[in-house]
Amino acid sequence: VRAIFHSADGGSTDEIDVPDGWTLMEGARQEGIQGIVADCGGGAICGTCHVRVRPEWADRLPEPEPSEAALLTIVPEPCETSRLACQIPMEPELEGIEVDIPSTQL
Ligand code: FES
Repeated sequence: VRAIFHSADGGSTDEIDVPDGWTLMEGARQEGIQGIVADCGGGAICGTCHVRVRPEWADRLPEPEPSEAALLTIVPEPCETSRLACQIPMEPELEGIEVDIPSTQL
């Protein structure tokens, strides 16, 4: 499933292919995307996989679980469509999803 990451400075774009069923965070780490730290390995505990989902994609994602929602209140540079990349399962309907990486993580 194709995913597009825009760097925090807006200067570069990385397009990656994430295996079906992986999370967006797992795909980002596999491909070495800068700025997706993912300290907790996907447990929705660390908040260091924060991404700002482009608004046109936000409605296609499942609602955040309480643990994700709580972390999203304390991540740096939040926005209305902020999500944790480890809580985004990549499915075919997300083909081409675009997210912005914040300039800093927790
Ligand atoms: Fe830790 Fe997503 S990897 S919250």
